[in-house]
Amino acid sequence: MCGIVGFVGNEQAAPILLDGLARLEYRGYDSAGIAVVSQNRELQVKKAKGRLQVLSDIIQGGKSVEGTLGIGHTRWATHGEPNDVNAHPHLSGDGKIAVVHNGIIENYVELRDFLVSQGYEFKSETDTEVVTQLLAYYYAECGDIFETVFKVIRRVEGAYALGIICADCPDRFIAARKDAPLLIGHGEGCNFIASDVTAIIKHTRDISYMDDGEVAVITADGVQVYNSMEQPIEKEHSYIDWDVSAAEKGGYAHFMLKEIMEQPEAIRKTAFSRIRDNRIFFEDLKIDEAYIKNIDKIFIIACGSSYHVGVVGKYNLERMLRKPVEVCLASEFRYSNPLVDEKSLVIVISQSGETLDTMAALREAKSLGAHILSIVNVVGSSIARESDDVLYTWAGPEIAVATTKAYSTQLVLLNMLGLYFGDILGTVSAKEYSEIIDELLRLPAKMEQMLENTDDIKYYASAYFNHSSVFFIGRNLDYAMGLEGSLKLKEISYIHSEAYASGELKHGTISLIEDGTLVIALGTYAPLFDKAMSNVVEVQARGADVLALTTDSHAAEMRKTVENVMTVPQSHTIFQPSLGVVPLQLFAYYVALMRGCDIDKPRNLAKSVTVE
Ligand code: G6P
Repeated sequence: MCGIVGFVGNEQAAPILLDGLARLEYRGYDSAGIAVVSQNRELQVKKAKGRLQVLSDIIQGGKSVEGTLGIGHTRWATHGEPNDVNAHPHLSGDGKIAVVHNGIIENYVELRDFLVSQGYEFKSETDTEVVTQLLAYYYAECGDIFETVFKVIRRVEGAYALGIICADCPDRFIAARKDAPLLIGHGEGCNFIASDVTAIIKHTRDISYMDDGEVAVITADGVQVYNSMEQPIEKEHSYIDWDVSAAEKGGYAHFMLKEIMEQPEAIRKTAFSRIRDNRIFFEDLKIDEAYIKNIDKIFIIACGSSYHVGVVGKYNLERMLRKPVEVCLASEFRYSNPLVDEKSLVIVISQSGETLDTMAALREAKSLGAHILSIVNVVGSSIARESDDVLYTWAGPEIAVATTKAYSTQLVLLNMLGLYFGDILGTVSAKEYSEIIDELLRLPAKMEQMLENTDDIKYYASAYFNHSSVFFIGRNLDYAMGLEGSLKLKEISYIHSEAYASGELKHGTISLIEDGTLVIALGTYAPLFDKAMSNVVEVQARGADVLALTTDSHAAEMRKTVENVMTVPQSHTIFQPSLGVVPLQLFAYYVALMRGCDIDKPRNLAKSVTVE
C-alpha cells in the first residue's frame, strides 16, 4: 500500500528518496514520484506509472533533480487508475505546495466541489489532490504553512499520513498523521519521515512514531511535533535494533523463499525466548488472572492470513480452554454491532500492526469494554500501541507480500497463549502442558528437516502449474490450514483456488470437480484421517487429479489410494498445521515461479493495507 518517504539534510535528496522508495516497494504500488525543492525555491515534481525503475530512469537515478529537501511516494491506486497524473506527489495549481498521501479522504467530493466553486481546477481523479488544493486555498489566505496544515486537517475526514512541502519554506517539510502509519527518523544533520522503518534504517535507527492528530515540522537540524491542539510535545524515541541484512534477499531469488526458509529461526526467537524450565512466561502481559478466569467469550479479529491463523486458533483454543472462540474478519466485525463486553477477550492478530480494518475493529471492541491483546510483528505499530497487551512475534521484517514467517510465528504464539491460559484455567492437564511444550521445542528442527529437501514439492509444482482451478480440501485443522494454502497459491500464481471443508463438498462444490481438476487433499489431522480418505475417493471418482498431504505415519495408508503424496513429520495435533503449511507455501512459490509471476510483488496486492 502507498509508501511515503521524506528527507531534509545536506545531501542531495532525490537519490535518498529513490532508495527509500525502493525499500518500500514490497508494500505494493503501481506508480511512484518525488518532489524536491531546489535552491531557487522551485518545486520539481517527477512521477511515473509502473515500476520505480521507470521513475529512476527519467531522473537519472536522482541526478537530474537538484535540492536537499524532498518527499517521495509509491502509490497503490484507490481513487483513479494508476497513471502518471494520478501518481503522487500532487502539486497545487499555484505550484507552491506538493503533497504525498497515504490513506483515503472520505469527504473529498464535498471538498472538491467547494474548491471548484472557488475557482480551483483539478488535474487528477485522486482524493489527495483535494488536500493539495485545500492547502493552497488556506495558504493563500494566511501565508503560514504550519497554520495552513492545521486548518486543512480540521476540514478533512478519513485517514491520512501526509508529507507536505512548500516552495516558500525550502528548509522544512511538514508531516501529519491520522489512522495511517508515519514515523520520524532522527539523523545527524538530517531528518526523515517514512511509512515504515525499512525505508530509512540505512540512515538512522532513532525513530519516533507519530500518533493520530499530530503534526511535525521537520528541518535538517531538528524535529518539532505538535499535538492536535497545536501545542509542542516531546516524542518518545525508539531504537531499531534489527539488522539491515534482515530486509535484504541474502542470496535467495525471492524474499518469499528466504522468509519461508527463515521460519524455524523465527519460531525459535518468538517461542523459545518465552519458555524457561519448560514453562511459558509472558512477563509483559498486563491481563490478570481474575480477568482471564472471568472471560466468557474470546474473539479473534484479523484480516487475510492473520485471519487464517485465527481459524486454526479457534479449533486449538476451544479445545484447550473449553470457552467459545469466534474468529472475525475485521472488515465485517467493525460494522456488525458485535456482542462484545467487559467479559470478552479480544485477540487481534496483525503482522504489520497497521491494517486499517483491523485497527477499526480493535477500537470498536475497546469501546465496548473488552480487553485487547494483540499479536503483532512490527514493534511500535499502531495496533500494538492501542492494545491493552501486546505479544510480539519476533519474525523480523517480512518483505514479500505473501506472508509466511509472520503467519507461522503468529500461529505458534497463539497456541502458546492458549496453553498459558489453559494452565491458568485448569483446562489443560499438567501432562498435556508438558507434552505440548516438548513438541513446541522440537518444532523448528522438524521444520528444518522439511526445508532441507524440497525436490518433491518442486516436482509436484512442475506437474500441476498449468492447472487453472484448484481445490484444497480438509477437515478441522486441515481445513483451517487449507485456507492459508489456497490463499498463498492464488495470491502469487493467480490460479483460481478455493479451500473447502471436505464434509461440505457434497453440498455444492463437488459439482465443479471434473476430469483433471486439481484437488489438494489435506490429511494431516490424525483424528479424522479416515474421513479425509473417504473424501479423496469421492473426488477421484469424479475425475480429480489428487495431490495429497499427510504425516509420515499416515503416508503409507494414503499412498494406497493416491500416487502423489507430500509428507510432513508427525507432531502434536495443535502444531500439525505449523508443519503442514510449509509444503503448501513452497508449492505456491514453485508454481508461481514456473508461471513466471512476480512472486514478491503480486499484482493488485499490498503488504500493509492501510485503507478500508
Ligand atoms: C494484506 C497482506 C496479507 C496479510 C493481510 C493482513 O492483505 O498481503 O499477507 O495477511 O494484509 O495484514 P496484517 O498486517 O494485518 O497481518
